[in-house]
Amino acid sequence: MTTADGRPWWRGAVIYQVYPRSFADGDGDGIGDVAGIRSRLDHLAALGVDAVWFSPWYPSPMADAGYDVADYRDIDPVFGTLPEVEALIAEAHARGIRTIVDVVPNHCSDAHPWFQAALAGGPGAPERDLFWFRPGRGPDGDQRPTDWVGEFGGETWTRTTNPDGTPGDWYLHLFTAQQPDFNWDHPMVRAEFEDVLRFWFDRGVDGIRIDSAGLLVKDGTLPETRPDQPHPFRDQDGVHEIYRSWRRIADGYPGDRALIGEVWMPDRQRFANYLRPDELHAAFNFDFLGCAWDAAAMRESIDGTLSAHALVGAPATWVLSNHDVTRHVTRYGRADTRFSFATKREGIPTDLELGTRRARAAALLSLALPGAAYVYQGEELGLYEVEDIPYALRQDPMWERSGRVDPGRDGCRVPLPWTGDEPPFGFSPDGAAAPWLPQPADWKDRTVQAQTGDPNSMLELYRAAIRARRAEPALGDGELSWLPAPDGVLAFSRGGGFRCLVNLSDAPIPIPADGELVLASGPLDHGLLPADTAVWLRAAPHGSDPS
Ligand code: NOJ
Repeated sequence: MTTADGRPWWRGAVIYQVYPRSFADGDGDGIGDVAGIRSRLDHLAALGVDAVWFSPWYPSPMADAGYDVADYRDIDPVFGTLPEVEALIAEAHARGIRTIVDVVPNHCSDAHPWFQAALAGGPGAPERDLFWFRPGRGPDGDQRPTDWVGEFGGETWTRTTNPDGTPGDWYLHLFTAQQPDFNWDHPMVRAEFEDVLRFWFDRGVDGIRIDSAGLLVKDGTLPETRPDQPHPFRDQDGVHEIYRSWRRIADGYPGDRALIGEVWMPDRQRFANYLRPDELHAAFNFDFLGCAWDAAAMRESIDGTLSAHALVGAPATWVLSNHDVTRHVTRYGRADTRFSFATKREGIPTDLELGTRRARAAALLSLALPGAAYVYQGEELGLYEVEDIPYALRQDPMWERSGRVDPGRDGCRVPLPWTGDEPPFGFSPDGAAAPWLPQPADWKDRTVQAQTGDPNSMLELYRAAIRARRAEPALGDGELSWLPAPDGVLAFSRGGGFRCLVNLSDAPIPIPADGELVLASGPLDHGLLPADTAVWLRAAPHGSDPS
């Protein structure tokens, strides 16, 4: 399953992220499901994406919206059934769309049978070795085994109660208390996940997205975190052996099956280690996602990304949003356009018109850069972060765990608007329960229906850009050469006469006269490229394009 030019698909694909709870609701309970996804596959085909990544849909108590998995080989009834998923995979393939499932190997749900057996077995039960059970510190064992701070903030250990009712050992959870961490030093854990990979590859999926890929291995001596020491649970060297064994499994299947890691790693060199030829195929580029809307910062991020990937021969990825971060229409409309979990993320003055203009330019930028591009559902509709979800309706554990300081991630997970003038905007069938999160009334202008056929809409821009990308042999995987450009402007060639110009300055700049316009992210101004606007150009048939 390579592309027409013989390169594996994952090197240059456009990959669309479906967040199943919020994509489309087929059965009318107000929560998206597999039936809903199947009913809307034509949207993905019309958009022209190469592959779809489905966030978790496994049986789960939903303490972390399904990233707390109770059974890795089945589907939660709220989403549907395994036969429905098998049908979805086949239907996507019939439309030429590859499929990627999300595997969560760092932790499971506290409802997972292994963890239930570990609790029921009491101290010394062999099932406890599959997790991180430890006695507490202090004479009564009532102090946590370490002071590690979790990935959602807050404590990382929860004390258990013994089967006889006495206070027992503690267990480790880097996320919520309902997400116990597996002990990856245990061979059963390794064998289990190798089998889970096979289970999904046997069902024909083309790729696996690996959740929290850098966290699996812990320093079993449980040291406290120290700036001058390797981190006890982030990016431990031992994690690479796991991905080498996973790569052998992926390579053992026909076609190009891809492993795509969620690796948050500021150090680009260490990030690239995950992409060595015998490890993962690709990893999400959070450096670019978090980068400010600023030409110098963007250029540094792009160059840093490309040189780190070149070291290991891996394709870069370009990601603007996902289900964990503030939507980029909102981010780019603020004074500080960077993304970080550590900074204030809500209640900040936001110019959505500016954010939308920049998001349109960012779409052309990210789809023109070398490598694979990711589209998070709703970004093709220009959706913004919903910041006024009433407190009582917020569901993301980040919100409560942070003492309601962090707004949580519900604002980027609001159900998609498809049709009509009022909620649920075709998300659910008529007469259904209200969507699980409320949709803003002004999304009536952002439905798929409202945008279809409107040449100025975000949706038609994405459709046109993805279509042009498919038609343009130089796009996707390949090389980039920077072109001379005024300050505040990114200009590069992809070869074959294709050029991309993005104006991040606040003044218009001339567009080179020797190119034919393929696409513009916004109106041009008499041969000038306005601020926060991007264009794609190709050499005019008889022009003298230098690229
Ligand atoms: C990363 C996922 O993207 C996020 O949604 C989840 O909460 C954590 N990993 C824990 O699984």
